[in-house]
Amino acid sequence: PVIRREDYTPFAWALPETRLAFDLGVEKTRVTSSLSVEPNPAAEPSPVLRLNGDGITAAQVTVDGAEISDWTMDGPDLLVPLSAGAHVVGIVTEIDPSANSQLMGLYASGGMLCTQCEAEGFRRITFFPDRPDVLSTYTVTMTGPKSLFPVLLSNGNQTGEGQNEDGTHWAEWHDPWPKPSYLFALVAGDLVANTDSFTTMSGREVDLAIYVRDGDLPRTDHAMRSLIKSMEWDEQVFGREYDLDVFNIVAVSDFNMGAMENKGLNVFNTKYVLADADTATDGDFDGVEGVIAHEYFHNWSGNRITCQDWFQLSLKEGFTVLRDQMFSQDMQGEAVKRIEDVRILRGVQFPEDSGPLAHPIRPDSFREISNFYTATIYNKGAEVIRMMRTMCGPEAFRKGTDLYFDRHDGEAATCEDFITAMEDGAGLDLTQFRLWYSQAGTPKVTVTMNYTDGEASLTVHQSVPATPGQAIKKPMPIPLKIALFDPATGTHRGEELLLCNQAEQRFTFDGFAQKPVLSVNRGFSAPVTIAREIEDHELVFLAANDDDAFARYEAMQDLVVRHLTAASSGGLSDEARDAARDAIGTAFGAIITDSALDDSMRGELMMLPSITYLAEQQEVADPSAIHQQREDLKAWLGVRFATELAALHDRVSQLEFSLEKASRGARKVKTQALVYLASGDPESGSKVAARQYDAADNMTDRQGALMVLAGLGTAARTDKLIDFHRRYADNELVVDKWFALQASSLHPKAIEHVKALAEHKDFTLRNPNRVRSLYMAFAANPHAFHAEDGEGYRLIADLIIALDPINPQTAARFVSPLGRWRRIEPKRAALMREQLERIAAVKTLSRDTFEQVSRSLGD
Ligand code: ARG
Ligand code: ZN
Repeated sequence: PVIRREDYTPFAWALPETRLAFDLGVEKTRVTSSLSVEPNPAAEPSPVLRLNGDGITAAQVTVDGAEISDWTMDGPDLLVPLSAGAHVVGIVTEIDPSANSQLMGLYASGGMLCTQCEAEGFRRITFFPDRPDVLSTYTVTMTGPKSLFPVLLSNGNQTGEGQNEDGTHWAEWHDPWPKPSYLFALVAGDLVANTDSFTTMSGREVDLAIYVRDGDLPRTDHAMRSLIKSMEWDEQVFGREYDLDVFNIVAVSDFNMGAMENKGLNVFNTKYVLADADTATDGDFDGVEGVIAHEYFHNWSGNRITCQDWFQLSLKEGFTVLRDQMFSQDMQGEAVKRIEDVRILRGVQFPEDSGPLAHPIRPDSFREISNFYTATIYNKGAEVIRMMRTMCGPEAFRKGTDLYFDRHDGEAATCEDFITAMEDGAGLDLTQFRLWYSQAGTPKVTVTMNYTDGEASLTVHQSVPATPGQAIKKPMPIPLKIALFDPATGTHRGEELLLCNQAEQRFTFDGFAQKPVLSVNRGFSAPVTIAREIEDHELVFLAANDDDAFARYEAMQDLVVRHLTAASSGGLSDEARDAARDAIGTAFGAIITDSALDDSMRGELMMLPSITYLAEQQEVADPSAIHQQREDLKAWLGVRFATELAALHDRVSQLEFSLEKASRGARKVKTQALVYLASGDPESGSKVAARQYDAADNMTDRQGALMVLAGLGTAARTDKLIDFHRRYADNELVVDKWFALQASSLHPKAIEHVKALAEHKDFTLRNPNRVRSLYMAFAANPHAFHAEDGEGYRLIADLIIALDPINPQTAARFVSPLGRWRRIEPKRAALMREQLERIAAVKTLSRDTFEQVSRSLGD
């Protein structure tokens, strides 16, 4: 069935208190719940209490202490007839965590028990109104064998513990903050903790603990530091203080997503907890810092204020992503983090917005909510709130968020509530801006400049493309930061913020001695695509001179994008190619030799746009043509700048390892330089890569070298791949890298490698990290995935069909690469469709995969 936003009604019953007793076992866990219920004064009264279930049965149902037999089932749900007034409803269920391969609800992971309840996993544990607007106060008791489960954790504060005669022990936890069921968590296992403490701004002592398996303890320091920094930052920047005596984090190897913000007990994918220099790259360190912050920030944006229904998901996710991005910008430097965030948005969200799965940040309908944990809800959601901040400025924005937190604390709120608080608190008029919540699709903005008699006039035109279910769009308010550069002096007279809110508008500026150079969408002030009339030499100028780091990066990207789109759609004359390469070479040369540039920014500027992003620029793309042209350009740059790149690689190789910015920047540039060197001359590049691999005292350098080697056909490739696996055989997260490196390689036989790796003894469909490391890496590797004979599509379809019965949520995530068919040249498009149809023909498809496949086919 399709669930619609407009159908929302409040739940008939309120549940002030929930008591849960768990008798824990890996194969059999008995759950006894006791729900205090009373009619919800804000809802229509009902003679039945509907409790959601999923794959569970009730062993016993009681009302006010007496067993009843007139309960019924409606599909998966349990219906309990109830007279008006307050009651206590008791339910007993029995579940088998070891059989739970979906990793939703209560499941076993490496001998421990843990939970994932968002969005609708709680109903796999016990019958309950499993919806985010039913808030209850939880008291949880857990009993289990002490030998298997020495650690027993749940939400809130621990309120009791004890030993039993039979070798079992128990613990009681109480969470004083009312919460929806999706924030419930329980962990039982043999774990050790890294502990610390934090004193909040009002003087509350908070005990912090990060629980991991025994051997992983040495890799938890970065996570702990990140947590403490997050707690400080949220007090300083948003005025948000933590509200319990303990904050626990548990790392789990088998996890569908990144992490989960359960109240007081965050459960994490190990990938976002464990990091040390030998096993984690600089990027992994940043991932840990960002996700720890994200989950911690949810304590206010998500937990204290939660969502009325799942259509409001972006209320907590978009806002929390913005908060974690701002935090990471403060920790690591604003410019580079902004560039990285835009790269993710364009690489993942833009394609989503232009494909069959496009949806507004506040969707109107869905079949399976798990399919809506998307880059649109998260990353575009963050951009929309960032635009509000850009329009009103940081101080007014803080007033708006203060009002929001204050006004809705303890509530299940809506996006509309957030917008209204921003209007009232920040003084914005968001009447037209609300369209950003309801219209899908990335706006296209065209900017042209007319220069006459010292006056520059800009014409800005916008259009929002049609998306599934939304043929006609209205113009939206688009805040564009611009600057007009004087080419003679290389400066401008100040940044301007243009608010474009009509289909077409004109803005004029005068007093220019010559035609200025336009720098537009500075800082990526709006999540739109820009087409601007600009000459190559002007882009070269901006790439060297723009004082806005993002705009500088953008100029370089634009230069390359233009050339590669022209080259890969054929018909580029030799003359035009030489001219374009000349311009790119001039800009690239300036970047690699500019001594005023810090290395981490240099590393960003050196990166070529991805094939996916390039393909996105064309109505219908030929991925192999783009790949070929992109490789040609890389090789050309590698040859042309061989001396400079070798010198650069040498210089940055001298630096000692540290986690400081300069050292990290050096490592970024090191591998970038290597990439071009190896492209220009594979033989000698392979030698440099092997040397970098051997000399590495950290994972960033080692993985970078191996990534380059994995794409080459040299002997060093095999040697180092064998060495890497042997060195890290007992570290799951590094073995994941080993799979991913090969699946994402530029090697012409990458597809054969993936097939062989699927048979490797370390491969399993049961672990989402491992599945993603092989197959997501492969699906994101256009030259391999888009093999001309359709073999790549077949491989992904086979995976989806095999994985769907085991873990539908993870299986469904692999559909979108196939769903891109409309934007791929016709021969391949037909092959992609064929595979989608093959999946659709499977009779027993999960709701998750069914929804994604049918949307992708366009029915
Ligand atoms: N709320 C979590 C986060 O963003 C993600 C949970 C996703 N769960 C899911 N079943 N899709 O931090
Ligand atoms: Zn989140």
